[in-house]
Amino acid sequence: MSPGRRSHPFKRPVPSAGSRHQRIQSRRGNQRGQERVITGNRQASWAFADAYAAEDDALRWARDRAREAGLRSVSPSTGAALRLLAATVDAKAVAEIGTGTGVSGIHLLYGMRPDGVLTTVDPEPEHQQFARQAFRACGFASNRARFIPGRALDVLPRLADAGYDLVFCDGDRLEFLDYLAESLRLLRPGGLVVFEGVFANGRTVDSGPQPTEVIRIRELLRAVRESQELVPSLLPVGDGLLCAVKR
Ligand SMILES: C[S@@+](CC[C@H](N)C(=O)[O-])C[C@H]1O[C@@H](n2cnc3c(N)ncnc32)[C@H](O)[C@@H]1O
Repeated sequence: MSPGRRSHPFKRPVPSAGSRHQRIQSRRGNQRGQERVITGNRQASWAFADAYAAEDDALRWARDRAREAGLRSVSPSTGAALRLLAATVDAKAVAEIGTGTGVSGIHLLYGMRPDGVLTTVDPEPEHQQFARQAFRACGFASNRARFIPGRALDVLPRLADAGYDLVFCDGDRLEFLDYLAESLRLLRPGGLVVFEGVFANGRTVDSGPQPTEVIRIRELLRAVRESQELVPSLLPVGDGLLCAVKR
């Protein structure tokens, strides 16, 4: 065979149906298809993780109130991660920024010690009222939660230094870096700071122009990773849960 006519496995005419060559060609041709399958599997895995974290009626009720109010609430798998983290540090005192209608608060309370107290901050009293009802429906005694109405940056400076085992940040994303500074003061050594929603629905890794909120999240991710005081991990649950232990 002349060099010009040398055949290349992927340039040969398509052999008869079902041959090895056809399978190779179709495999290459279907790489995009495979990506679609993998993406589909990943979405199914995400849905499986959410379904695995079974939620009770009170949680579903709080979730419905959030939806009606146009609020995001943590996903079921994020809620399960919050429970796990609260239980891991045997949390007696947790500070939450952004009560919402109480979905994340319920998960945190389930993970905390039975005598643990959740201090939760939100400027919207009606959100906190829903959360109060939801906590009651779960059977948590009223002294397990301290509701503080107000903006985080007005309230947090009044909370005790090194008085908290975990700080959960789900308020105003523009303020995330300020929450980090406050959290480092509020946490005891070995305590955890946790930020919800750092994927920003995929915008954090999108190379296109992004709003200030996303720029702030990127700054936060960098600051947490570079901090000598923190041991971080970005958990790909829900919309991205950035966690870090204070040394
Ligand atoms: C995404 S929702 C929180 C959802 C809640 N963590 C949950 O999973 O059920 C954000 C909440 O942060 C509150 N918020 C907004 N700005 C805030 C601020 N500066 N300080 C504290 N909370 C704030 C909003 O009123 C809203 O209830």
